Amino acid sequence: MEIIEKKYIEKFSLPLRIYKMAYVADAIGKSGEEFSIFVGLDEKLVAELTRYSEDLSDTELQKNTPDKERFAKGAYEDWYKKIRTPFAFVHKKTDVLAALVWLGPRPLDDKEGNWHTVGWRSYNPWRGKGVMKDFANFAINFYLKHFPDVKLWITAKEENTASLHLAENLGFKRIKYVREKGFFEMIKDATI
Ligand SMILES: CC(C)(COP(=O)(O)OP(=O)(O)OC[C@H]1O[C@@H](n2cnc3c(N)ncnc32)[C@H](O)[C@@H]1OP(=O)(O)O)[C@@H](O)C(=O)NCCC(=O)NCCS
Repeated sequence: MEIIEKKYIEKFSLPLRIYKMAYVADAIGKSGEEFSIFVGLDEKLVAELTRYSEDLSDTELQKNTPDKERFAKGAYEDWYKKIRTPFAFVHKKTDVLAALVWLGPRPLDDKEGNWHTVGWRSYNPWRGKGVMKDFANFAINFYLKHFPDVKLWITAKEENTASLHLAENLGFKRIKYVREKGFFEMIKDATI
């Protein structure tokens, strides 16, 4: 997938004010589908995120994430207060949220360093279509330009092959440390 970052982006610091969005890039998928990439979610995208999160027919999402609790039962505003920076991947033709990546501070228990975590979701019909690696890579690099000194980690259920595979493709490595039974932790460009 080709991602073309906007040449002239107004300077801003992260995280943006809640519901603010900055249009930062365009993407063209292998099949020619076009997408826009934004930092931040406006109210419309948050409403879509909430709808996706309570969609019980999305068994992968329900099995592998607490998003129903987090965004449908809980409030996006409370989650945002944890200093989260979401990136939205929006399908241009339908103007619908196709995927989401977010980053934000989250200590890796007692491990030294300024740790931030990454979360990712793709939504049907775009899941499994190979857009996530490039989109997540873009979001991570964009974020690291704002926070060059942070170390990144992810956590995923042991059986969440798609997420673990994606992390591996993005250069995350498994660590032996067991934080929670049934989960694997992976870190990027750092050793502990
Ligand atoms: C995890 C998730 C974001 C990955 O996105 P995706 O759309 O499947 O990603 P891609 O199509 O870009 O594929 C990522 C890689 O995983 C592989 N993959 C995808 N689904 C897979 C599966 N079920 N089993 C094995 N590998 C899989 C792909 O082949 C690809 O690897 P490759 O580039 O080497 O071929 C997506 O599956 C998802 O949203 N799942 C539900 C929510 C979730 O689990 N989020 C993460 C919680 S930790």
